[in-house]
Amino acid sequence: MVKICCIGAGYVGGPTMAVIALKCPEIEVVVVDIAAPRINAWNSDHLPIYEPGLDDVVKQCRGKNLFFSTDVEKHVAEADIVFVSVNTPTKTQGLGAGKAADLTYWESAARMIADVSKSDKIVVEKSTVPVKTAEAIERILTHNRKGINFTILSNPEFLAEGTAIADLFKPDRVLIGGRETPEGQKAIHSLKSVYAHWVPEDRILCTNLWSAELSKLAANAFLAQRISSVNAMSALCEATGADVSQVSHSIGTDSRIGPKFLNASVGFGGSCFQKDILNLVYICECNGLPEVANYWKQVIKVNDYQKMRFVNRVVSSMFNTVSGKKIAVLGFAFKKDTGDTRETPAIDVCKGLLGDKAKLSIYDPQVTEDQIMRDLAMKKFDWDHPAHLQPLSPTSNKQVSVVWDAYEAIKDAHGICVMTEWDEFKNLDYQKVYDSMQKPAFIFDGRNVVDVNKLREIGFIVYSIGKPLDSWLKDMPAVA
Ligand SMILES: NC(=O)c1ccc[n+]([C@@H]2O[C@H](COP(=O)([O-])OP(=O)(O)OC[C@H]3O[C@@H](n4cnc5c(N)ncnc54)[C@H](O)[C@@H]3O)[C@@H](O)[C@H]2O)c1
Repeated sequence: MVKICCIGAGYVGGPTMAVIALKCPEIEVVVVDIAAPRINAWNSDHLPIYEPGLDDVVKQCRGKNLFFSTDVEKHVAEADIVFVSVNTPTKTQGLGAGKAADLTYWESAARMIADVSKSDKIVVEKSTVPVKTAEAIERILTHNRKGINFTILSNPEFLAEGTAIADLFKPDRVLIGGRETPEGQKAIHSLKSVYAHWVPEDRILCTNLWSAELSKLAANAFLAQRISSVNAMSALCEATGADVSQVSHSIGTDSRIGPKFLNASVGFGGSCFQKDILNLVYICECNGLPEVANYWKQVIKVNDYQKMRFVNRVVSSMFNTVSGKKIAVLGFAFKKDTGDTRETPAIDVCKGLLGDKAKLSIYDPQVTEDQIMRDLAMKKFDWDHPAHLQPLSPTSNKQVSVVWDAYEAIKDAHGICVMTEWDEFKNLDYQKVYDSMQKPAFIFDGRNVVDVNKLREIGFIVYSIGKPLDSWLKDMPAVA
């Protein structure tokens, strides 16, 4: 029986391995992690991450050929294929701080693999890593190998949170990079045969190691670039009276452009886009390509600009101050159908409003109070370290309350900020909402989910990104 072990039971390791176990009943899959609470949760009825369809997949194979364990060394030692899906945060200190990837966790995983292995192994990079990481990892492994052969492959993951299971069941492509040596090609073939259980052969792309590593960074940079492009357009739409949804629709019908990733919003979030672009920028700089680095840097700058612009809209519309005013924040996750808050634009928007002394009442159907308080207290990039290394939750923040109902968050508020496109925010009883708020009642829609005309009829002053402005907002400065 082929044995697979995956180091890192996170958003990628957990769902990916669950699907491999489901589709390959004759393979034993063990997911290991140093974080005991996370492993306990994977073994319980309350999985540590929310992802539609995940519960079902885990239930079907857990205890049969899918296992979760903290006994990292034992399962790595027994495996034929070791996936490494640990955190690769942005460095906060030293050379490349704020840009380069911190490979501490990857390196310690590689050293541990070298230490405990007693048989040949294929080691698969699942984490997103800088180009040429495989080479460094290979050196660590081969320097400690005691006669054991390690073959390294790059198999970056392209799933999107919120649709992870659907993406894993029917991926656009699976990418496997390996050395062009006979051993490298043999390892590619072995991993390919795992995916071939359910992925059509023509969707399994095989490349060299560096192409696979770079393709992942490039894919995220291109996706984020589309969002920043449409967000830049949204500012121009507001200034000119065009409607960004109409512009997106018009350009999206061009088959060369396509309709996806063209929704204007308060900005992109998630654990990957910013981190991977910063990483790409750093690689460009290290390779003497400042023009290329600056091009990609601009994608992040526009994203930061969009979040700042939103905060400024809120403050300037509400008579230039939100001090002491209750603002309801609807949604905190970085997108719907996930409880993940890593790099969510809600953090920067909330921090901006708190900076102007607003009182926030936050509601998200999937994010806990503890997580929100932690996020609002945490320093940039701290979130991407394993849980046991993250700062503890602060006792409380007097300006912030977290509630478990949208109407509760909204009651007596001066304004509402929609931060996540959860479906339930489309269907609130907005007359009831209006009646329970202070007047004038403001709504700032960072995700273009509300029906602007209907809300204006009720009496709301509505700001919706990239849409023709309410007469109230027309003369207010958008950017300080
Ligand atoms: N989240 C996504 O949507 C996504 C998509 C594609 C790729 N990626 C990439 O995949 C990688 C993992 O991302 P994630 O979202 O799953 O992260 P995550 O933080 O959810 O999970 C990583 C896990 O690794 C564990 N870990 C760290 N060091 C370890 C060690 N030495 N031994 C055992 N366990 C260890 C941590 O405790 C943590 O549970 C990152 O490189 C990320 O960029 C993420």
